[in-house]
Amino acid sequence: MKYDIINIMREKNDFISGEELAEKFGVSRVSVWKNICKLKEEGYIIDSVTNRGYLLKGCFDVLNENEAKRNLRTAYIGQKCIYKNETDSTNDDAKNLASSSFTENNGTVIIAESQKKGKGRLGRKWEAEKKGLYFSVILRPDIMPQEAPQITLLAGIAVAKAIERICGLAAKIKWPNDVIAEGRKISGILTEMSAEMERVKYIVVGIGINVNNEEFPEEIKNKAASVYTLTGKKNDRTEIYKAVLEEFEILYDEYIKQGGFSFAAKEYSKMCVTIGMKVKISLKDKEITGEAIGIDNNGALMIKK
Ligand code: BTN
Repeated sequence: MKYDIINIMREKNDFISGEELAEKFGVSRVSVWKNICKLKEEGYIIDSVTNRGYLLKGCFDVLNENEAKRNLRTAYIGQKCIYKNETDSTNDDAKNLASSSFTENNGTVIIAESQKKGKGRLGRKWEAEKKGLYFSVILRPDIMPQEAPQITLLAGIAVAKAIERICGLAAKIKWPNDVIAEGRKISGILTEMSAEMERVKYIVVGIGINVNNEEFPEEIKNKAASVYTLTGKKNDRTEIYKAVLEEFEILYDEYIKQGGFSFAAKEYSKMCVTIGMKVKISLKDKEITGEAIGIDNNGALMIKK
């Protein structure tokens, strides 16, 4: 009911009385008032004026299912969205949901205000306090398991473009999928999948973006940053979230249509700061050092030894 009140207020775009709202929902005026109080706590700016009622003046950085779907310009990614105030890991939630059904959920997103056990790549932890953006997208592409990392690369492009568009911050990519700005990591992507030998069953693309985070733990303090620490401005996480999904859906649809990553290789290369750098690649039994000279049509990093 809370968010239905918001929708009605938005439609009316003028004062609406507590009595009218109470009648619409078949509840008491006290119940309407209690919901208005909760909405204000969540960050909605609502004027309450005696004899006139309630007026929605706006909202900033309010994250919930309703805001996540409002004016979202995608066909399917994010059109089904599950919001959680707190969870262990949105990737785990998305995997549980995806494995409970074989056909549905393509494009469904799980988004959380904070994560208690946020997961990073290579078994690392991902710090996920309130103020950041944490979400996971379920996809069911008809691809081979070894092609799945390409989708992570596409997500990296989408995140960098969205951050640049919404926050005006020049974001780049450190291969394969760290999004960085001013040399510091502001976003990470963890893709997990369930697959048979020849076919992916589902993929979960988990994205974490440091948006309004003010500080970082000692161990990552020198490498990490947030949009806020870099620009000094607080940003609306919902706007960034929607921009990421919009950019990502365009790239993902093209990827499926073209049947591969090659169409994005040029764009990725332009954004990739790794090219030209001296790199060390750790393989199972050896290390290779060399200069990164480019990204090939499969998204692999090419190295000159
Ligand atoms: C990395 O850079 O190591 C990847 C970090 C990925 C973090 C995101 S936050 C949303 C999703 N849920 C998780 O538990 N991890 C990913």
